[in-house]
Amino acid sequence: MTKKTDANYGKGYAEANESDSLEPYIRIVKQRVKEAVTSENFEIPLLPHVATQVLQLANNPNAGFIEIEKIVKQDQVIAGHLIKTANSAFFRGVSEVTSLRDAMSRIGLKTLKDIVFSLSLHSKVFRVKGYEPILAEIWKHSVACAAIAQILAKYAGLNSDTAFVAGLVHDIGKPVLINVISQWETELQKPKPESPEDKKLRLWGSPEQKEAIAKKNYRPDSAKIHSIFEEVLVPFVFEESHAQVGALVATKWKLPNEIMEAIRWHHKPELSPNKMPITTVIYLSNLLCHHFGYGHEEDPIILPHQKAFKELNISEEKIGKIGTDLPKYVDQLLSSMVI
Ligand SMILES: [Fe+2]
Ligand SMILES: [Fe+2]
Repeated sequence: MTKKTDANYGKGYAEANESDSLEPYIRIVKQRVKEAVTSENFEIPLLPHVATQVLQLANNPNAGFIEIEKIVKQDQVIAGHLIKTANSAFFRGVSEVTSLRDAMSRIGLKTLKDIVFSLSLHSKVFRVKGYEPILAEIWKHSVACAAIAQILAKYAGLNSDTAFVAGLVHDIGKPVLINVISQWETELQKPKPESPEDKKLRLWGSPEQKEAIAKKNYRPDSAKIHSIFEEVLVPFVFEESHAQVGALVATKWKLPNEIMEAIRWHHKPELSPNKMPITTVIYLSNLLCHHFGYGHEEDPIILPHQKAFKELNISEEKIGKIGTDLPKYVDQLLSSMVI
């Protein structure tokens, strides 16, 4: 397995094994992707309308089933999914529910908000053609992180709704980056017309000039371009920018400042300027996700040794409980949160 310390860490099969002709191409593409995601023109998708409205409900202490029903009715796919969820193994009651209202009351207000927010986010931001397997992995990891964050927040006496949303969006920079670089991939797939200058050199230039032109205009075929994007560029931009881009997304979506900070510093909480407890919760939830297998494999950790537990005043007994209760809870949430 490739470890962070290996020379090839972050490089996919393509980069590690391809012939020299691909290297300059990959270098140029990496540079341009890096410039694109750090430029002021970097395009961030809007927070889906339904998700925005669910978040606004958090500011309304009187919001109940009627308000959420109005939101859900705008999206028939989500409405249909709620009925399916209410009849799933976890929520199933004595009889089958067929109406939206019955489905909502069976699920319960609190879980309902979580599910509607998640489904809306998933259907609009986590869908990019050609990148389905990576996005499915990120989604699973995000839901697991939301579930763990919710539990940790309860144990630490913090707001578990905020923790849930923060956990769900902590890696939001990743799908957003995939959206952007997949558009760029599509652009690259389009054949470029040859300039008259290049044509002249290609036909009549010296052997060195011909070689230089061939190198400059080299384009791998579509399948090769996609594999370079998927195996080399995606890991590269994730490593470089996902937390930073995620914080930009949170700002554009007007998420609370504590969620923005948790996203920005979830890998390096020690650098966070305001040291908000929710940042520690998300840092720890992310570690636990990898520990329990919800995300790519990382070096194993010894749970009770994590000083973040101490910072959150979570006892060893509760840490043990997380290990036994978590997988079931995460699997149940996952089954309700993918359309
Ligand atoms: Fe991350
Ligand atoms: Fe993560």
